[in-house]
Amino acid sequence: MISVVKKAIIPAAGYGTRSLPITKAVPKEMFPVWNKPAIQIVVEEAVEAGIEEILIIVSRRKNVIIDYFDRSVELESHLKKVNKSHLLDEQEPPAVNIHYVRQPYARGLGDAVLLGKSFAGNDPFAILLPDDIIVNGKTSGLSQLVEIRNKHKGNVLALKEIPLERLHKYGVVKAEQKEESLYKIMDIVEKPLKDPPSRMAVIGRYLLNPDIFSYLEQVKPGAGGEIQLTDAIRMLIKDQPCFGKVIEGKRFDIGSFEEYLALNEYMYQNGQKS
Ligand code: UTP
Repeated sequence: MISVVKKAIIPAAGYGTRSLPITKAVPKEMFPVWNKPAIQIVVEEAVEAGIEEILIIVSRRKNVIIDYFDRSVELESHLKKVNKSHLLDEQEPPAVNIHYVRQPYARGLGDAVLLGKSFAGNDPFAILLPDDIIVNGKTSGLSQLVEIRNKHKGNVLALKEIPLERLHKYGVVKAEQKEESLYKIMDIVEKPLKDPPSRMAVIGRYLLNPDIFSYLEQVKPGAGGEIQLTDAIRMLIKDQPCFGKVIEGKRFDIGSFEEYLALNEYMYQNGQKS
Protein backbone atom coordinates (compact mmCIF):
# COMPACT_ATOMS: atom_id res chain seq x y z
CA MET A 1 0.00 0.00 0.00
CA ILE A 2 1.45 3.39 -1.03
CA SER A 3 0.87 5.92 1.68
CA VAL A 4 2.10 9.38 2.60
CA VAL A 5 1.63 8.42 6.25
CA LYS A 6 4.88 6.88 7.47
CA LYS A 7 4.66 7.45 11.22
CA ALA A 8 2.47 5.90 13.89
CA ILE A 9 1.96 6.37 17.62
CA ILE A 10 0.86 3.42 19.75
CA PRO A 11 -0.20 4.53 23.26
CA ALA A 12 0.42 1.71 25.75
CA ALA A 13 0.85 3.46 29.10
CA GLY A 14 -2.61 2.96 30.63
CA TYR A 15 -3.28 1.00 33.82
CA GLY A 16 -5.72 -1.47 32.27
CA THR A 17 -8.03 -1.19 35.28
CA ARG A 18 -10.85 -3.13 33.62
CA SER A 19 -8.55 -6.13 33.37
CA LEU A 20 -7.27 -6.18 36.98
CA PRO A 21 -5.84 -8.16 38.73
CA ILE A 22 -3.80 -9.59 35.82
CA THR A 23 -2.72 -6.11 34.65
CA LYS A 24 -0.90 -5.63 37.96
CA ALA A 25 1.75 -7.93 36.45
CA VAL A 26 1.02 -8.23 32.72
CA PRO A 27 0.30 -5.13 30.62
CA LYS A 28 -2.96 -5.44 28.66
CA GLU A 29 -0.98 -4.73 25.48
CA MET A 30 0.99 -7.96 26.12
CA PHE A 31 -2.07 -10.20 26.50
CA PRO A 32 -1.61 -13.23 24.25
CA VAL A 33 -3.73 -13.34 21.14
CA TRP A 34 -3.06 -16.92 20.24
CA ASN A 35 0.76 -16.97 20.40
CA LYS A 36 1.50 -13.27 19.92
CA PRO A 37 1.06 -10.29 22.22
CA ALA A 38 -1.74 -7.95 21.13
CA ILE A 39 0.71 -5.11 20.50
CA GLN A 40 2.64 -7.20 17.97
CA ILE A 41 -0.52 -7.73 15.92
CA VAL A 42 -1.04 -3.96 15.91
CA VAL A 43 2.61 -3.27 14.94
CA GLU A 44 2.22 -5.74 12.04
CA GLU A 45 -0.97 -3.95 10.99
CA ALA A 46 0.94 -0.64 10.94
CA VAL A 47 3.77 -2.13 8.85
CA GLU A 48 1.26 -3.58 6.38
CA ALA A 49 -0.24 -0.09 5.97
CA GLY A 50 3.16 1.38 5.02
CA ILE A 51 4.28 2.74 8.41
CA GLU A 52 8.08 3.03 8.76
CA GLU A 53 8.51 4.68 12.19
CA ILE A 54 6.57 3.80 15.33
CA LEU A 55 6.55 5.57 18.69
CA ILE A 56 5.22 3.42 21.54
CA ILE A 57 4.13 5.35 24.63
CA VAL A 58 5.05 3.24 27.66
CA SER A 59 5.19 3.76 31.42
CA ARG A 60 7.45 2.62 34.24
CA ARG A 61 5.65 -0.71 34.46
CA LYS A 62 5.82 -1.57 30.77
CA ASN A 63 9.50 -2.38 30.15
CA VAL A 64 8.41 -5.85 29.05
CA ILE A 65 7.10 -4.26 25.82
CA ILE A 66 10.53 -2.75 25.07
CA ASP A 67 12.25 -6.07 25.84
CA TYR A 68 9.80 -7.95 23.65
CA PHE A 69 10.63 -5.95 20.51
CA ASP A 70 14.38 -6.25 21.12
CA ARG A 71 16.57 -9.17 20.08
CA SER A 72 17.06 -11.96 22.58
CA VAL A 73 20.66 -12.99 22.01
CA GLU A 74 20.54 -15.79 24.63
CA LEU A 75 17.41 -17.29 23.10
CA GLU A 76 18.90 -17.07 19.60
CA SER A 77 22.09 -18.91 20.62
CA HIS A 78 20.05 -21.48 22.56
CA LEU A 79 17.85 -22.22 19.53
CA LYS A 80 20.96 -22.68 17.36
CA LYS A 81 22.56 -24.95 19.96
CA VAL A 82 19.53 -27.25 20.24
CA ASN A 83 19.03 -27.42 16.44
CA LYS A 84 15.87 -25.32 16.47
CA SER A 85 17.18 -22.66 14.09
CA HIS A 86 13.92 -22.91 12.13
CA LEU A 87 12.26 -21.00 15.00
CA LEU A 88 14.65 -18.07 14.61
CA ASP A 89 12.65 -16.24 11.90
CA GLU A 90 9.68 -15.93 14.23
CA GLN A 91 11.89 -14.20 16.83
CA GLU A 92 13.02 -11.44 14.45
CA PRO A 93 11.96 -7.95 15.59
CA PRO A 94 9.43 -6.36 13.16
CA ALA A 95 10.83 -4.56 10.08
CA VAL A 96 10.18 -1.06 11.40
CA ASN A 97 11.98 1.46 13.61
CA ILE A 98 10.43 1.49 17.04
CA HIS A 99 11.00 4.41 19.42
CA TYR A 100 9.75 4.70 23.00
CA VAL A 101 8.81 7.46 25.37
CA ARG A 102 7.47 7.17 28.91
CA GLN A 103 4.28 8.86 30.02
CA PRO A 104 4.98 9.86 33.63
CA TYR A 105 1.31 9.93 34.71
CA ALA A 106 -1.56 8.11 32.97
CA ARG A 107 -3.48 11.35 32.39
CA GLY A 108 -5.43 10.03 29.45
CA LEU A 109 -5.10 9.15 25.78
CA GLY A 110 -4.78 12.80 24.70
CA ASP A 111 -1.89 13.33 27.11
CA ALA A 112 -0.18 10.15 25.83
CA VAL A 113 -0.52 11.23 22.18
CA LEU A 114 0.82 14.72 22.99
CA LEU A 115 4.12 13.08 23.98
CA GLY A 116 4.52 12.24 20.28
CA LYS A 117 4.60 15.89 19.18
CA SER A 118 8.30 16.08 18.25
CA PHE A 119 8.23 12.53 16.82
CA ALA A 120 5.47 13.55 14.39
CA GLY A 121 7.00 16.94 13.56
CA ASN A 122 5.17 18.34 10.51
CA ASP A 123 4.02 14.96 9.23
CA PRO A 124 0.59 13.36 9.31
CA PHE A 125 0.57 10.28 11.52
CA ALA A 126 -1.50 7.30 12.55
CA ILE A 127 -2.62 6.33 16.04
CA LEU A 128 -3.32 2.66 16.76
CA LEU A 129 -4.74 1.62 20.11
CA PRO A 130 -3.20 -1.75 20.92
CA ASP A 131 -6.23 -2.98 22.86
CA ASP A 132 -8.43 -2.77 19.74
CA ILE A 133 -7.73 -5.75 17.50
CA ILE A 134 -9.25 -5.70 14.01
CA VAL A 135 -9.36 -8.92 12.01
CA ASN A 136 -10.96 -10.35 8.91
CA GLY A 137 -11.23 -7.24 6.72
CA LYS A 138 -10.16 -7.46 3.05
CA THR A 139 -7.33 -5.17 4.09
CA SER A 140 -6.15 -4.31 7.61
CA GLY A 141 -7.89 -1.67 9.72
CA LEU A 142 -5.23 1.01 9.21
CA SER A 143 -4.91 0.28 5.47
CA GLN A 144 -8.62 1.06 5.11
CA LEU A 145 -8.01 4.52 6.60
CA VAL A 146 -4.95 5.07 4.39
CA GLU A 147 -7.08 4.37 1.31
CA ILE A 148 -9.50 7.13 2.36
CA ARG A 149 -6.66 9.53 3.14
CA ASN A 150 -5.10 8.91 -0.29
CA LYS A 151 -8.40 9.64 -2.01
CA HIS A 152 -9.94 12.45 0.04
CA LYS A 153 -6.99 13.92 2.02
CA GLY A 154 -7.99 15.20 5.47
CA ASN A 155 -8.11 13.46 8.83
CA VAL A 156 -9.67 10.01 9.00
CA LEU A 157 -11.20 8.17 11.97
CA ALA A 158 -12.19 4.50 12.16
CA LEU A 159 -15.89 3.98 12.94
CA LYS A 160 -18.03 1.03 13.99
CA GLU A 161 -21.76 0.84 14.65
CA ILE A 162 -22.18 0.03 18.34
CA PRO A 163 -25.36 -1.14 20.11
CA LEU A 164 -27.18 1.74 21.82
CA GLU A 165 -26.66 0.39 25.34
CA ARG A 166 -22.86 0.44 24.93
CA LEU A 167 -22.48 3.80 23.15
CA HIS A 168 -21.85 5.66 26.43
CA LYS A 169 -18.39 4.05 26.55
CA TYR A 170 -17.25 5.59 23.22
CA GLY A 171 -16.62 8.79 21.32
CA VAL A 172 -19.78 9.05 19.20
CA VAL A 173 -19.94 11.06 15.96
CA LYS A 174 -22.48 13.28 14.28
CA ALA A 175 -21.82 12.67 10.61
CA GLU A 176 -23.11 13.06 7.04
CA GLN A 177 -22.92 10.00 4.83
CA LYS A 178 -20.79 10.57 1.66
CA GLU A 179 -20.53 7.09 0.19
CA GLU A 180 -21.17 3.60 1.40
CA SER A 181 -19.19 3.28 4.66
CA LEU A 182 -17.73 6.81 4.34
CA TYR A 183 -18.92 9.77 6.43
CA LYS A 184 -17.95 13.41 6.82
CA ILE A 185 -17.67 14.06 10.53
CA MET A 186 -19.48 17.15 11.77
CA ASP A 187 -19.06 16.68 15.52
CA ILE A 188 -17.98 14.14 18.11
CA VAL A 189 -19.03 13.62 21.74
CA GLU A 190 -16.99 11.62 24.27
CA LYS A 191 -18.95 9.03 26.28
CA PRO A 192 -22.44 10.56 25.87
CA LEU A 193 -24.61 9.68 28.87
CA LYS A 194 -27.81 10.43 26.94
CA ASP A 195 -28.95 11.31 23.40
CA PRO A 196 -25.92 10.04 21.45
CA PRO A 197 -25.76 11.88 18.09
CA SER A 198 -25.65 8.57 16.13
CA ARG A 199 -24.85 4.87 16.56
CA MET A 200 -21.40 5.38 15.02
CA ALA A 201 -18.52 5.27 17.48
CA VAL A 202 -14.82 5.94 16.99
CA ILE A 203 -12.65 2.85 17.44
CA GLY A 204 -8.89 2.66 17.93
CA ARG A 205 -7.45 3.76 14.58
CA TYR A 206 -6.87 7.37 13.52
CA LEU A 207 -5.02 9.27 10.78
CA LEU A 208 -4.41 12.84 11.87
CA ASN A 209 -2.66 15.96 10.69
CA PRO A 210 0.02 17.30 13.07
CA ASP A 211 -2.21 20.35 13.77
CA ILE A 212 -3.90 18.12 16.38
CA PHE A 213 -1.03 18.86 18.79
CA SER A 214 -1.86 22.55 19.16
CA TYR A 215 -5.42 21.54 20.13
CA LEU A 216 -4.20 18.84 22.50
CA GLU A 217 -2.15 21.51 24.30
CA GLN A 218 -5.39 23.43 24.97
CA VAL A 219 -7.49 20.50 26.18
CA LYS A 220 -8.53 20.54 29.83
CA PRO A 221 -9.29 17.29 31.69
CA GLY A 222 -12.68 16.01 30.47
CA ALA A 223 -14.65 12.77 30.92
CA GLY A 224 -13.13 10.74 33.81
CA GLY A 225 -10.70 13.61 34.66
CA GLU A 226 -8.54 12.57 31.67
CA ILE A 227 -7.10 14.58 28.79
CA GLN A 228 -9.29 13.24 26.01
CA LEU A 229 -8.05 12.91 22.44
CA THR A 230 -11.69 13.25 21.38
CA ASP A 231 -11.87 16.79 22.79
CA ALA A 232 -8.90 17.85 20.63
CA ILE A 233 -10.36 16.15 17.54
CA ARG A 234 -13.57 18.03 18.19
CA MET A 235 -11.67 21.33 17.87
CA LEU A 236 -9.66 20.11 14.88
CA ILE A 237 -12.74 19.21 12.83
CA LYS A 238 -14.06 22.76 13.12
CA ASP A 239 -11.02 23.84 11.05
CA GLN A 240 -10.20 20.88 8.81
CA PRO A 241 -12.07 18.12 6.98
CA CYS A 242 -12.36 14.88 8.89
CA PHE A 243 -13.77 11.65 7.51
CA GLY A 244 -15.06 8.56 9.21
CA LYS A 245 -14.60 5.16 7.62
CA VAL A 246 -16.78 2.31 8.83
CA ILE A 247 -14.21 -0.41 9.26
CA GLU A 248 -14.76 -3.68 7.51
CA GLY A 249 -13.88 -6.69 9.62
CA LYS A 250 -14.40 -7.79 13.19
CA ARG A 251 -13.15 -5.67 16.04
CA PHE A 252 -12.40 -6.94 19.53
CA ASP A 253 -11.70 -4.73 22.57
CA ILE A 254 -9.36 -6.88 24.64
CA GLY A 255 -10.04 -4.71 27.70
CA SER A 256 -13.38 -6.55 27.82
CA PHE A 257 -12.78 -10.08 29.05
CA GLU A 258 -15.65 -11.48 26.95
CA GLU A 259 -14.27 -9.90 23.76
CA TYR A 260 -10.74 -11.03 24.63
CA LEU A 261 -11.92 -14.63 24.92
CA ALA A 262 -14.01 -14.28 21.74
CA LEU A 263 -10.92 -13.03 19.87
CA ASN A 264 -8.88 -16.06 20.91
CA GLU A 265 -11.76 -18.34 19.96
CA TYR A 266 -11.82 -16.56 16.57
CA MET A 267 -8.05 -17.10 16.12
CA TYR A 268 -8.47 -20.77 17.00
CA GLN A 269 -11.33 -21.22 14.53
CA ASN A 270 -9.56 -19.33 11.75
CA GLY A 271 -6.12 -20.87 11.78
CA GLN A 272 -4.55 -18.11 13.90
CA LYS A 273 -4.53 -15.64 11.00
CA SER A 274 -5.06 -12.04 11.99
P1 UTP B 1 -7.94 2.52 27.53
O1 UTP B 1 -8.70 3.46 28.34
O2 UTP B 1 -8.65 1.51 26.72
O3 UTP B 1 -6.88 1.71 28.41
O4 UTP B 1 -6.93 3.34 26.61
P2 UTP B 1 -6.57 1.72 29.93
O5 UTP B 1 -6.78 3.06 30.53
O6 UTP B 1 -5.21 1.12 30.08
O7 UTP B 1 -7.60 0.62 30.42
P3 UTP B 1 -8.85 0.67 31.40
O8 UTP B 1 -9.92 1.44 30.67
O9 UTP B 1 -8.39 1.30 32.68
O10 UTP B 1 -9.19 -0.78 31.59
C1 UTP B 1 -6.61 2.99 25.26
C2 UTP B 1 -5.10 2.89 25.06
O11 UTP B 1 -4.47 4.10 25.46
C3 UTP B 1 -3.43 3.85 26.37
C4 UTP B 1 -3.73 2.50 27.00
O12 UTP B 1 -2.53 1.84 27.38
C5 UTP B 1 -4.48 1.76 25.89
O13 UTP B 1 -3.59 1.04 25.06
N1 UTP B 1 -3.37 4.95 27.37
C6 UTP B 1 -4.48 5.30 28.07
C7 UTP B 1 -2.16 5.59 27.58
O14 UTP B 1 -1.13 5.29 26.93
N2 UTP B 1 -2.11 6.57 28.53
C8 UTP B 1 -3.19 6.96 29.26
O15 UTP B 1 -3.07 7.86 30.10
C9 UTP B 1 -4.41 6.29 29.02
